[in-house]
Amino acid sequence: MPAVAAHAMVVSEQEHATRAGLEILRAGGNAIDAAVAVGFALTVVYPEAGNIGGGGFMVIRLPSGRVTTFDYREKAPLGATRDMYLDRRGDPVEGLSWEGHLAGGVPGSVKGMLTALERYGRLDRRSVMAPAIRLAREGFPVHAGLLSGLESDRDLLCRFASTRAVFFPGRPTRPNGTAPGGAPRTTCLPADSAAAGLGPTAPAPNDSAARELPPNVTRREPFRVPGGLTRSLGVRAAGDTLRQPDLARTLEEIAAQGEGAFYRGRIADLIVAEMRRGGGLISKRDLANYDVVERAPVHARYRAHEVWSMPPASSGGVILAEILNVLERFDLRALGFHTPRSVHVTVEAMRRAYADRNRFLGDPAFVDMPVETLTSPAYAEELAASIDILHATASSEVLAGARFPSATESSQTTHYSVVDSLGNAVAVTTTLNGGFGSGVVVEGAGFLLNNEMDDFTIKPGVPNAYGLVQGPANAIEPGKRMLSAMTPTIVTLDGELLLVVGTPGGSTIITTVAQVISNVIDHAMPLEEAVAAGRFHHQHLPDAIFVEPGAWSEETIRRLRAMGHEVRVRGSASGRVNAILYDAGAGTYRGVADPRSYAGLAAGF
Ligand code: DON
Repeated sequence: MPAVAAHAMVVSEQEHATRAGLEILRAGGNAIDAAVAVGFALTVVYPEAGNIGGGGFMVIRLPSGRVTTFDYREKAPLGATRDMYLDRRGDPVEGLSWEGHLAGGVPGSVKGMLTALERYGRLDRRSVMAPAIRLAREGFPVHAGLLSGLESDRDLLCRFASTRAVFFPGRPTRPNGTAPGGAPRTTCLPADSAAAGLGPTAPAPNDSAARELPPNVTRREPFRVPGGLTRSLGVRAAGDTLRQPDLARTLEEIAAQGEGAFYRGRIADLIVAEMRRGGGLISKRDLANYDVVERAPVHARYRAHEVWSMPPASSGGVILAEILNVLERFDLRALGFHTPRSVHVTVEAMRRAYADRNRFLGDPAFVDMPVETLTSPAYAEELAASIDILHATASSEVLAGARFPSATESSQTTHYSVVDSLGNAVAVTTTLNGGFGSGVVVEGAGFLLNNEMDDFTIKPGVPNAYGLVQGPANAIEPGKRMLSAMTPTIVTLDGELLLVVGTPGGSTIITTVAQVISNVIDHAMPLEEAVAAGRFHHQHLPDAIFVEPGAWSEETIRRLRAMGHEVRVRGSASGRVNAILYDAGAGTYRGVADPRSYAGLAAGF
């Protein structure tokens, strides 16, 4: 995908959301206004990840050069307990922290976005929410990628009548075993049962690995079902209009009344009623008590550049800083792009940083963390000195811990980047966690609830959905934020904005951001190349490098194995980066939506 050059720019995962942001910039809004417009639009057009039932992190750089951040991560409900997802034997109950009402944390997005808007925006709430309301009320043409996603997550989404009513109205259902806890489960029949496979290139239902298959393999093909899709079954062909009247009303109420509508008013009542119906924990008190925190960014220097990113409750900034601080001690440019030597030192930096992530980090309101130490050059020096330049260090030597068989592929989150011509820049990463979150639409309110509780340590030593093996610092406690890996990041050079970047990808988010930054700074790649380049990942446990298919030659893999690394080729592409880079020569910004994305768009003027 060619980069787009402009003086004001929006890059997001969805064309309609990018256009919502542009509309606001054109109407005289700044980057913060536009980012909030994008965020609300994504809840309408990208239900996989865009959310008002979830949470996120926003990094803002103001024209003065000051950088600030907003933490609107979900929180554990007050009724949550450390062992709530364990059975009587103390083992995790499969799916309980991932599907359904109990998986949801208290949503933060509405308050987060509106707080940022109030403090740093120029326009009023109604104006910035207008595009999202229009998309929900009048509808938008559904992309083949969304249809494909709905179909592959059909078993999750059809479990809940309120969710079926939005995405599969009128679709015949059938029993589908029992849910965690023993309740009977329902699923919908495929769009056309005669075409249950949904064509040769469509992902298998509920195949989480398939959700992130490179779009050119599965998702760029229009979603076609022999015999066509009929409205009477509530399924839609690509290009059909999806209208969401309940969601439109929810957004209208938020636009008219502010966050109180969501956290204390009718929408709060609907959330609590939904919790009662499905055995969830989120209460009126949880919603009324939810708070957003404006925090100072994590800061690192990387080869004369300033890197500003998200502090805990995301691990993103600290671990990004730790990785970059170690990499700065090696001449990556001289070592070369993706040579066995440069991959090796990068992996060793990642391995060490993730060991610290999983041991030390959590919600700052609950745990004391050695953030200063972890991000200090002196500590990086120590870590760099512990790297054997020719041989892999076993993760078991970095931190005592068991080995785990595999890191599961991630599902869905989204990142957007916005700059305006005034010098504001905004990086937002936001999520429901898994694709379509918990699968539960709040009846009457029309939005999906997150399944972010799975990001906590469900049981120390047991890997979560992203294979992360975490400890007590991230244990469940009432009112606590679950540790995230989201890494919205801004890079400046000589006091000028250079790069706005971020990505989805679960545990791989941090290493992806680190690689894009290194591609730009160390390997002087144009942004489109820096984003498109193949990626690899190491997270301490499991003790293996995960590499995108096709990224490396057999020879590179062989040589890394000879150094003692286990190399596993991922089944799918990694996260969809949406980034903006300043081109000093041209005096314009260049925006790139990751070619891995199915409907991403960079646009500006
Ligand atoms: O906050 C986190 O780290 C995760 N909930 C992010 C999940 C994610 O990126 C899934 N997507 N691709």
